[in-house]
Amino acid sequence: MLAADHFLAGPVLGIETSCDDTAVAVVVGGHVWTNRVSSQIPIHQRFGGVVPEVASRNHLQSILPTIETALRDVGLEGPDLAGIAVTNRPGLMGALLVGVQTAKTLALAWDVPLIGVHHIEAHCWAAMMAPPGTDRGAKQWSQPELPALALAVSGGHTSVFRVDGPGQSMVLGETLDDAAGEALDKFGKLLGLPYPAGPHVDRAARQGQSDRFRLPKGLKNRRDLAMSFSGLKTAGRQTIERVRAEGLDPAEHLADLCASYQLAAVTQLVDTTMRAARQYDLKDVIVAGGVAANSLLRHTLALRCEEQERRAWLTPRPYCTDNGAMIAGLGSALLARDQLDDPLTLDAQPTVRATLKARKESRDRAQGRRPK
Ligand code: KG4
Ligand code: ZN
Repeated sequence: MLAADHFLAGPVLGIETSCDDTAVAVVVGGHVWTNRVSSQIPIHQRFGGVVPEVASRNHLQSILPTIETALRDVGLEGPDLAGIAVTNRPGLMGALLVGVQTAKTLALAWDVPLIGVHHIEAHCWAAMMAPPGTDRGAKQWSQPELPALALAVSGGHTSVFRVDGPGQSMVLGETLDDAAGEALDKFGKLLGLPYPAGPHVDRAARQGQSDRFRLPKGLKNRRDLAMSFSGLKTAGRQTIERVRAEGLDPAEHLADLCASYQLAAVTQLVDTTMRAARQYDLKDVIVAGGVAANSLLRHTLALRCEEQERRAWLTPRPYCTDNGAMIAGLGSALLARDQLDDPLTLDAQPTVRATLKARKESRDRAQGRRPK
């Protein structure tokens, strides 16, 4: 099978509004033709985090202009599209609704097929698409072999999945509390870094010593694939308080604090991922989502995969943080398999558990195991 065979040959529009980015892209046969993001980061920075109501209102303002720009980029009119893909789960309800209602309306007006896409599955599927710089005519490029293991790690989610195909993922393990991205953002905020702090922690950590402060590297004595970042968050706050109590200025120790904290978060992510790869005997390991842009995570995962003769698939950086390309990409693969949604009934679903857990349960049942 050629890499491009996973995708529909025609142009698919992808719309992403699940959080604070209004993102629109057009993907043709697995190639990203345009990838537009209208970011709300400067708007939410004032509040130190995403304000859901503000996000919805800004999506409303920017969605149609961003779609128009993307279509102009590729010289297409709406009815020329082979499909419209939209994130319909999970995410902030008001934010999701803007994308979903827009996509449903345009699908009906332009008489184009519609497909609702799972945000986290789309993050993982970005690894299957033609990497930036691939010749648009190419039908073949390097791609993970399925089934593959995927670590999806972002501001809202931290899970390991087995990816069997488009729309077919099974949760193998996930965080019991906070997402890794949230833990990085909160720690950076305590140190006065701007929202979202993840990339700033990454940058500061490059100049720091990661053995300067000792921080917890995950749940002890657990053989399952559960993760936890709330203990790290508390320990991070206490470490900053201790530095202050010693009469020191945390800002002057920013690099060491960031390096130590980042090492703890990355160690847990990589250890869990490699344990999952071993347990499920999966050779190809994908890392996806906003935190997949982190330099230490990319470096460490690549190294550990090499040591264990596995193949690491580091999502190209432009497709790590929220983007329309991954939505169009997974939508294109689902459309190629005729997995369409009804534009009159597609719903926005704010929670993730319902869908993915339900799928895991049904598999457990199918294999004669009692669902947990
Ligand atoms: O996937 P994403 O754009 O949105 C969600 O679905 O949550 O991920 C955003 C998260 C934020 O927590 C942000 O701080 C983090 O990704 N992030 C990073 C880096 N770039 C983005 N974290 C660590 N290092 C980075 N380089
Ligand atoms: Zn995301």
